[in-house]
Amino acid sequence: MKTIGIAVIGFGWMGQAHSRSYARIPSLFPDRVAEPELVICCDNLEDRAAEAVRSFGFAEYTTDPAEAINHPDVDAVIVCAPNMLHEELCVLAAEAGKHVFCEKPVGGTPAQTVRVAAAAAEAGIITGVGYNYRWAPLVQYAKDMIERGDLGDITNYRGRFFSMYGSDPMGLLSWRFEIDGAGYGVSSDILSHSMDLGMMLNGPIVSVVGMAETFIKDRPLPKAGGTHYDRGEPGDPTGPVTNEDYAGCMVRFANGSIGTFESSRNIVGPQSQMAFDIHGTKGALNWNLETMNEMNIFMTGGEHLHDGYTKVYAGERYPFHGNFVPGDANSIAYEDLKVIECLQFLTAVATGEQHEPGFQQALEYVSVQQAVINSWESGKWEDVKLLTLDDI
Ligand SMILES: NC(=O)c1ccc[n+]([C@@H]2O[C@H](COP(=O)([O-])OP(=O)(O)OC[C@H]3O[C@@H](n4cnc5c(N)ncnc54)[C@H](O)[C@@H]3O)[C@@H](O)[C@H]2O)c1
Repeated sequence: MKTIGIAVIGFGWMGQAHSRSYARIPSLFPDRVAEPELVICCDNLEDRAAEAVRSFGFAEYTTDPAEAINHPDVDAVIVCAPNMLHEELCVLAAEAGKHVFCEKPVGGTPAQTVRVAAAAAEAGIITGVGYNYRWAPLVQYAKDMIERGDLGDITNYRGRFFSMYGSDPMGLLSWRFEIDGAGYGVSSDILSHSMDLGMMLNGPIVSVVGMAETFIKDRPLPKAGGTHYDRGEPGDPTGPVTNEDYAGCMVRFANGSIGTFESSRNIVGPQSQMAFDIHGTKGALNWNLETMNEMNIFMTGGEHLHDGYTKVYAGERYPFHGNFVPGDANSIAYEDLKVIECLQFLTAVATGEQHEPGFQQALEYVSVQQAVINSWESGKWEDVKLLTLDDI
């Protein structure tokens, strides 16, 4: 079996999640087409990079991204560093002819994504993006139902990603809250997940009108080596939040349906409500990451007195689920979606068949994001245009 050498760059939450996930592939997917090999891990914090060798099975570590990318045994580079480093790292990897998986967003701004997508296309490499919610077994089944026409003609779509990760004003000013570290705020961070799912399920978006808000204007300054879940104390020195806490929009899809998307990192109540509702002329579905092993399905055409949503539980009858746990209603978890994602990318690299979602899908998302940003400024509906190098 082919071996695919992996370099991970950025060994925080996501770098560790990807590394654990590649290590789990062999035992969960005996029918895999390639063997992942954890060759080298890079983090600018040396202790963190060394932990990759000590506890995660990497052969080597470094604090120099170029050393990881150019390592002769590395076929694919997994970019899990803060957003504003994505462009430099992805372009370096593409120029070295290495396949690249980049955590979302691919760059912190639409212009960066356009440049990364162009460099990858020029290099002819396989690309992947961390839109992991696509891989939930029930989301995959929702896609099958919609493609089969089970819901009839789609009329309405509502997508949202409401998180509380930034709701505590004592939450530190990590890179996510700064335009220089993250680029845009939630429109790059979590609206991207919600819209990726919306476009996967319901096709392209053609026009938008949106708004944005920043509710918590200052936060305590971060400490070295922390994560964005760390907290400061009253009286700690603070700095300004320089990107948006909330982004929302109304949209028109190419198929004639209409929709709304909202994302917030400091709304109180929903903790990780990455959710959608989709309605057609014959049925409707809704799903929420907080209860990712459940989906509600409404189908018309039965006894009207009994109409209502039916709750189905995830189980081995849905895509991928049985690789993790047999039977029905035995749950899988967040990181299992990362394992499926890593398997898909590994397969694409081994077979040479372009992965979806790849940088093309990231480009399609930032083209919508740019129209949303234009609408913040114009206060009007804006048409979506697929961005090219000439637009930036
Ligand atoms: N798909 C998802 O569900 C999901 C979830 C969380 C984060 N993300 C994305 O993953 C990426 C990383 O987020 P995270 O939560 O893991 O952040 P994190 O802050 O936990 O980790 C980032 C790591 O990058 C390292 N780093 C910083 N500068 C570096 C450099 N120059 N070279 C090498 N390493 C460097 C940091 O030391 C840290 O270990 C972001 O783009 C984020 O948007 C995706």
